[in-house]
Amino acid sequence: MTMEIHAVLFLVSGVTLLGHHSCLSKTLEDRPVRPHLIFIMVDDQGYGDIGYHGSDIHTPVLDQLAREGVVLENYYVQPICSPSRSQLMTGRYQIHTGLQHSIIRPRQPLCLPQDIPTLPEGLREAGYATHMVGKWHLGFCKQSCLPTGRGFQSFLGTLTGSGDHFSYQSCDGAEACGFDLHDGNRPAWEKSGNYSTLLYIERVKEILRNHDGHKPLFLYLSLQAAHTPLQVPEQYLHHYDSQSNHLRRHYSAMLSCLDNGVGEVVQELKKSGLYKNSVLIYSSDNGGQPLSGASNWPLRGGKGTYWEGGIRAVGFVHSPLLTRKGVVSRALIHVSDWFPTLLGLAGAPQSKHILDGHDVWKTISKGLPSPRTEILFNIDPVSRRPEEPYNKALLQNGLGIWDTGVKAAIRAGDWKLLTGNVGSGDWIPPHYFPSAAQQGLEKRRNELGKSVWLFNIASDPYERSDQAETRPDIVKLLLRRLADYNQTAVVAQNHQMTLCWGSWVGVC
Ligand SMILES: *[C@@H]1O[C@H](CO)[C@@H](O)[C@H](O)[C@H]1NC(C)=O
Ligand SMILES: *[C@@H]1O[C@H](CO)[C@@H](O)[C@H](O)[C@H]1NC(C)=O
Repeated sequence: MTMEIHAVLFLVSGVTLLGHHSCLSKTLEDRPVRPHLIFIMVDDQGYGDIGYHGSDIHTPVLDQLAREGVVLENYYVQPICSPSRSQLMTGRYQIHTGLQHSIIRPRQPLCLPQDIPTLPEGLREAGYATHMVGKWHLGFCKQSCLPTGRGFQSFLGTLTGSGDHFSYQSCDGAEACGFDLHDGNRPAWEKSGNYSTLLYIERVKEILRNHDGHKPLFLYLSLQAAHTPLQVPEQYLHHYDSQSNHLRRHYSAMLSCLDNGVGEVVQELKKSGLYKNSVLIYSSDNGGQPLSGASNWPLRGGKGTYWEGGIRAVGFVHSPLLTRKGVVSRALIHVSDWFPTLLGLAGAPQSKHILDGHDVWKTISKGLPSPRTEILFNIDPVSRRPEEPYNKALLQNGLGIWDTGVKAAIRAGDWKLLTGNVGSGDWIPPHYFPSAAQQGLEKRRNELGKSVWLFNIASDPYERSDQAETRPDIVKLLLRRLADYNQTAVVAQNHQMTLCWGSWVGVC
């Protein structure tokens, strides 16, 4: 096994380094209307882990950027890393990319399908310079799967999901470890020892300093903070000396370091003159993990689940180009929407491919109604265990329309329906972890054969009042929608790779 992971993780090491500024097009197109696009993805930031949601974590920079922009308060992502990232990069639901089951594990030879265009590929065609800094987590088994193979002209970051923030050792089980920090397609040994957030912010500043403002820029900064391992340079911990929970203290400090770094990025944008024509988008990739110091309170559940705490994300847009600023948007927006939205801003031709995302720029900037009325969160056929103890009930609960042993979730208008083993649905108050997570409040296995839940999210955002029994009409409607979507699904790429069912989510 050890040999195998080295072979995989180091596959990229024999390749010549691409000079990452050398391949910018020499023909500068002078169309300043196309804004510079800065997308900041953070890792595992919980709904309750940002100042403007009343958090105990200090995020003054993010709070101010959000306050001056448009705060997205009905914004959804996917519950774990690779899925959210795959939808950001393709504008397509996971059932349409074959990535509907779990994350991409380091030892799985999987990646984004080559025939599905990516966001940086589209932006590059539209004349953008494209740079990526940070965590990829969308596969690396072939060179063509790497960020530089999928449209980014430069890349500094990690290919896997949860390596060490200083040494960049990344493991898939104790027996399969490798070094995972890459500059272009080359392992960046010389940079090891630098803290990921600080290293990435430095690279971003360097990109901004060297960028010719006449050419539109797409910069994807994908920070691994505040994902485990909970590591942070000593100086950021001092803000939280009074925090007695060790995990929360470290997690908070990681976000404060990130907050500070985002401030430096914005300063550099202003200094380099790019700011006035820029759009900055900030998004968490999934809900927080309460077992690792995060909080999604008052939402139900957390990372890895389809409860609101797993998928309702922190997100905002900050830009001098917004028509309306300083507002909160309650329009329904999903991570798959960024693909058409950013390509729209770039003036790129409409994709020939069928997308699941919608262009929501006018919704964000002008407050027009969202073109999105429905979100398919996922259908994960691999989650269905044939030996399920309540097999018959699972089928009956689906009213002959849907096998409710399959993990699936959908939102249509104000209604949200969940089926299958959608994950632990506890409400975990801040400072109540990690012990609280052990005491299941409404776990499915405690309610024999229960496999369908229905909530009106507009009137019951914390999912406390299950309407599955009282509104069979809506249940039926949404089960039909799931069955319709299922007709369009492709086979999961990793349908035969579920060696340890259910236990992978926590590693992402
Ligand atoms: C950090 O990165 C720089 C180069 O970017 C390198 O000179 C230095 O040795 C690295 N390591 C540490 C521990 O700072
Ligand atoms: C989804 O579609 C597949 C392929 O057509 C089918 O085998 C499966 O039974 C469907 N799943 C459900 C839950 O209806």
